[in-house]
Amino acid sequence: MTVHGIPSEVLAALAGAVGPMGVTVDAAGMTKYLGDWSGDHHGGAVAVLKPASVTEVQAVVKLCGALGLRIIPQGGNTGLVAGAVDIEARGAVVVSLERLNAIRLVDAGNFILQADAGCILQHIKDAAEEQDCLFPLALGAQGSCQIGGNAASNAGGVNVLRYGMARDLILGLEVVLADGELWNGLSGLRKDNCGYDLKQLFIGSEGTLGIITGVEVKLFPKPARVETAYLGVASFEAAVALFREARRGCSDLISAFEIIGSECIDLARLIDANIVAPVDAPVHVLIELSSGGAVDLRAMLVEFLADAMEKGLITAALFAESGAQAKAFWAIREGLVEGQAKRGYHVRTDLAVRILDIPALIDQARRFVALEHPGWLPQAYGHAGDGNIHFNVLPPLGLAERDARTAGADITAGLYQIVNSLGGSISAEHGIGRTRHSAFWAGLAPPHRRLITALKNALDPAGLMNPGCLFPSMETFS
Ligand code: FAD
Ligand code: LAC
Ligand code: ZN
Repeated sequence: MTVHGIPSEVLAALAGAVGPMGVTVDAAGMTKYLGDWSGDHHGGAVAVLKPASVTEVQAVVKLCGALGLRIIPQGGNTGLVAGAVDIEARGAVVVSLERLNAIRLVDAGNFILQADAGCILQHIKDAAEEQDCLFPLALGAQGSCQIGGNAASNAGGVNVLRYGMARDLILGLEVVLADGELWNGLSGLRKDNCGYDLKQLFIGSEGTLGIITGVEVKLFPKPARVETAYLGVASFEAAVALFREARRGCSDLISAFEIIGSECIDLARLIDANIVAPVDAPVHVLIELSSGGAVDLRAMLVEFLADAMEKGLITAALFAESGAQAKAFWAIREGLVEGQAKRGYHVRTDLAVRILDIPALIDQARRFVALEHPGWLPQAYGHAGDGNIHFNVLPPLGLAERDARTAGADITAGLYQIVNSLGGSISAEHGIGRTRHSAFWAGLAPPHRRLITALKNALDPAGLMNPGCLFPSMETFS
């Protein structure tokens, strides 16, 4: 007998590795693991396996190796590039880390936290806060993404300009390698200069080199003061000039500097019709400062913004007078992302340029869309302090999804051309996954191709780990 083409004895072996609770094969049970957050991508799998311990992850990987079954590692499945969804449905198994979700250690004295890879990011942030500490990785999906997924995708988010990407926040990893052996790189050390930094290979590897089972992160003192203001500025040029001044004027205490083109506000209203933009300006800026208790942060921000107003860099400013008001400001930023998904298919990017090139990027991208795809609606927002712009484009209402996807591919290619001409990157933070590997590989110089191919072949010679992700086709690289 077979289920999804897998002989029942193979299924029995998989169930033996993870226990009956750890195997799902029925279509209804697998649904949430096979489609992505945006609803853009749907994949296939012969089974979803949910190991509940590191030993079970090892057993699964060894068994899959022996059976020639390929593995799609999956965290919270909030990734935006189909890295955890096998859209080509090559008959792989999804290995979900959701049952491996304990916080192993909070060591406030050493400013270290260790957790299982399947631990939800928000739970880690909460556990840090209970010890008067901060784990600063912050993104809209933090209530469902997992720390292992954050590591595997090298997540960014809104606090990168102050604290860095996941790559900068991770002290150590524990990884089940493609042959099932366990590599323990959890040492608690902040400095360890003995040869290659192996954890960095797995950070951002998008599940193509092994399965991360444990993560050790850096904690920071929880800021005693946080000030948030919502600003109106006349242009993206003014926003970038404001950021440059703000770094000096606010003693480099900025923890977030988000820009939002005013065209995006309607998207936030799709999630909450009561949202009213706090300012009336072409470009909005959400600035957050944070510090210890000894700094009069409000006075610093007030003085800086008064000066910026005098110089004509801002046209309006509203301070959050309470935590609730700060939350309301952030709800606009988060709502516009949810609103895009609610509206349906759209072109989604996470472009990176040097900070001073942000206005040129947005200007060229808007012109390109207006000229080549009139009727499509550009939305520009993002992490300006990192030079990371989400230049997304909504299809005209009523355009059939099939036609929208065809035009969308052309728009994406045009946007990549623009970002490349500015010496930027086609992915600042979301990664390559299955949606961008062609553009990624087309842009790689031969030595770069050779090096990443050599790494893949060395760490996963059988091509077991996440086929079709990051690499266009494993066959090309064997
Ligand atoms: P998944 O989506 O499950 O997987 C992502 C990749 O990692 C896949 O390739 C998968 O195979 C691999 N993987 C997952 N877990 C493991 C593991 N344990 N071992 C090995 N490989 C693994 N991203 C940003 O960078 N910045 C943002 O600001 C941001 N905002 C977002 C807002 C929303 C509303 C949403 C839906 C997404 C956002 N994202 C953002 C994208 C996404 O949340 C992040 O990429 C996140 O880090 C993915 O974590 P995950 O656990 O959901 O991983
Ligand atoms: C954001 C995600 C989409 O910045 O990266 O909201
Ligand atoms: Zn982002």
